[in-house]
Amino acid sequence: TGMFTYDPGFTSTASCDSALTYIDGDEGVLLHRGYPIGQLAEHSSFMEVAHLLLNGELPSKDELDTFTYTISRHTMLHEQLAQFYRGFRRDAHPMAIMCGVVGALSAFYHDSTDITDPTHRLIASHRLIAKMPTIAAMAYKYSIGQPFLYPQNDLSYTGNFLRMTFGVPAEPYEVNPIVERALDRIFILHADHEQNASTSTVRLAGSSGANPFACIAAGIACLWGPAHGGANEAALNMLREIGTPDKIPHYIDRAKNKNDPFRLMGFGHRVYKNYDPRATVMQKTVREVLGELGVTDPIFDVALQLEEMALKDEYFVEKKLFPNVDFYSGVILSAIGFPTTMFTALFALARTVGWVAQWNEMISDPAQKIGRPRQLYTGPAEREYVAVGER
Ligand code: CMC
Repeated sequence: TGMFTYDPGFTSTASCDSALTYIDGDEGVLLHRGYPIGQLAEHSSFMEVAHLLLNGELPSKDELDTFTYTISRHTMLHEQLAQFYRGFRRDAHPMAIMCGVVGALSAFYHDSTDITDPTHRLIASHRLIAKMPTIAAMAYKYSIGQPFLYPQNDLSYTGNFLRMTFGVPAEPYEVNPIVERALDRIFILHADHEQNASTSTVRLAGSSGANPFACIAAGIACLWGPAHGGANEAALNMLREIGTPDKIPHYIDRAKNKNDPFRLMGFGHRVYKNYDPRATVMQKTVREVLGELGVTDPIFDVALQLEEMALKDEYFVEKKLFPNVDFYSGVILSAIGFPTTMFTALFALARTVGWVAQWNEMISDPAQKIGRPRQLYTGPAEREYVAVGER
């Protein structure tokens, strides 16, 4: 491979140092700043995890109050941005709107964001974390033709998002604490995942010194694809298409067939060659939430049986394909009332915490350089130009 190491898909390249997230894919371990994801999902809140990822430590009570207050101060969007939404078709995919609106924030915070100054970086980070729920909820409201709701800062981060999404000005909205807790947990499970494709995209975009809002828009674009964050939407659509347990074997056969492009969505992972620890929490949460809400969803049975059959199948065992975080999340989101097209937007909302934490870590690293991979050239050798009439 000449002067360079050839590593398509970066399966064996470490692109940076990072102190945020540790994954042992063979053991199914995921730690944020040392804390196991299972413990964080069980005991902490999304705001605590955001503080942990951004600042390195779990906050004290006072620190958490201050952090939550700071975030709440930035929840509103510039009024001009409401006009920007109106330029989209009503049936636009929320992720298309998110790419556009988050990218457009760079036009509003263009001058104030001197990224060499850590204070400005922190403000940009707080703004992004704070505005994401408003932006995602507005994308949803726009799609169904309901008025945008302003944030209400006496609610929790997640409660406020639920109200902006499902509330209407005509009547009071009561946040259901079961739903609030479940969604907050989903956000925790999606907050960061070391150097995945979208985070690497944010780092690469940011490595040139670009505006942070534009960098996060790049991350959103990358997350959208079905091999990455788009898998939650694809997984639920697949479960609905399967519909009943008797159809499962047919879909398992299709997933195994190399001439069929179909894959089991929500299955397999580049790093986990064992059960994704986030999927363990997610499966448990689905059971609890459906139970507490008194909802029965036949799709959950399809998911459980699909998992059971796949994990007994030689193909999936041999290739170490297990359910990932996206396999069960859709069942909960659907029970809460989100349409499938919103699923990846929720992933983007949560992953924004990881993106900004990773971006800050990168910019403050003295060894930071512009990301500039090389290639193995496979085109023609040098040749003489031929005039158009002589070709
Ligand atoms: N169904 C059937 N076969 C699969 C699947 C699947 N879901 N995933 C991988 N394989 C097979 C694949 O065909 C390949 O077989 P072979 O070695 O015979 O060619 C082998 O397993 C390895 O797959 P790969 O595509 O080379 O592995 P990768 O590390 O490049 O891809 C992946 C990882 C997540 C993109 C892939 O497993 C996949 O497409 N899964 C479905 C989409 C999905 O659920 N994505 C969400 C990932 S977790 C959330 C996130 O981080 O965004």
